[in-house]
Amino acid sequence: MKDKWTRDINYLRISITDRCNLRCFYCMPEEGIQKLNHDDILTFEQLYPIVEVAVELGISKIRITGGEPLVRKGIVNFIEKISKLSGLKDIAMTTNGILLERYAQELKEAGLHRLNISLDTLKEDRYKMITRWGELNQVLRGIEATEKAGLSPIKINVVAMRGINDDEIEDFARLTKEKPYHVRFIELMPMGEAEEIEGERFITNEEILNRLPDLIPLINEDGSGPAKYYKLPNSKGSIGFISPMSNHFCKSCNRIRLTADGKIKPCLHSNFEIDLKLAKTKEEIRNILQKGILLKPERHYLKEGSESSIRGMNQIGG
Ligand code: GTP
Ligand code: 5AD
Ligand code: SF4
Repeated sequence: MKDKWTRDINYLRISITDRCNLRCFYCMPEEGIQKLNHDDILTFEQLYPIVEVAVELGISKIRITGGEPLVRKGIVNFIEKISKLSGLKDIAMTTNGILLERYAQELKEAGLHRLNISLDTLKEDRYKMITRWGELNQVLRGIEATEKAGLSPIKINVVAMRGINDDEIEDFARLTKEKPYHVRFIELMPMGEAEEIEGERFITNEEILNRLPDLIPLINEDGSGPAKYYKLPNSKGSIGFISPMSNHFCKSCNRIRLTADGKIKPCLHSNFEIDLKLAKTKEEIRNILQKGILLKPERHYLKEGSESSIRGMNQIGG
């Protein structure tokens, strides 16, 4: 259905957990954050009718996010169930990849279409520094398992940060020569833990683009997606830029979000939320979803310094 600004809202991002098996320094403090209570988290039984109604309202694309979605038990069954809804054309997941070696094949069999994998460095010691707990090789094996399972396209999300991984831009670009991956550089957004480091670490995507002079622009293969895509000559993959800060894509924003504790979030960067948890009937769910879509703000005002979301990225899932 259309929002007040005539954008067609057809994409629902569902965060199924706020928990994560990593502690990326720009996302979560090492000791973690106050976790949601088990009872506050929507059960898969509660989630299913929400997805059904969303599809009836015109949602054709669903992305499962977290925290880390693969730490939640029952996720494979849930995907299997929603994959049978005929209106859903695209079911995807954003993951840190740590558990993919174990789950990629099962996810494919359950009906998942594709995966976006977060990977900010290709260096082992640096991966440990950024994620505090992670082993790079686990993720690399997970990406291989994803490829083998035939889940495609594979998108790799790289949050670019000055003095952290900006010396690896060329390495990530080179990866797309050998592998059919879509590497996407994401501008660091000042939310949660990232708020404090943003001044020091932020790099515009324009700066990265200037460092890769051989790039050839592509027609946006994602249609309305936020990434702008390019390609190196003779490469198997592509390179994308997601620039929420320098060039916000709110005008073409087609998404709403559902948090693990059942709040509809019409905009990633606003604290405005509508509680869906108490909706008992499909009619009540429909009313709330419609309200969420109609109240979607025109754009975010982060650069103007207005409020950003008090939830960290682990509670929204990007
Ligand atoms: P595709 O469907 O594959 O294009 O996925 P996607 O880019 O929508 O999803 P993904 O989870 O891979 O998102 C990558 C990152 O882009 C997110 O983690 C956020 O950092 C950023 N992002 C995604 N959606 C939005 C949005 O609506 N607003 C802003 N500001 N940033 C977003
Ligand atoms: N700015 C930009 N991207 C972020 N992510 C997490 N925190 C931030 C932030 N402050 C990314 C992760 C992952 C996706 C879910 O969001 O690296 O790719
Ligand atoms: Fe890292 Fe994503 Fe986990 Fe945050 S939710 S700690 S960005 S893997």
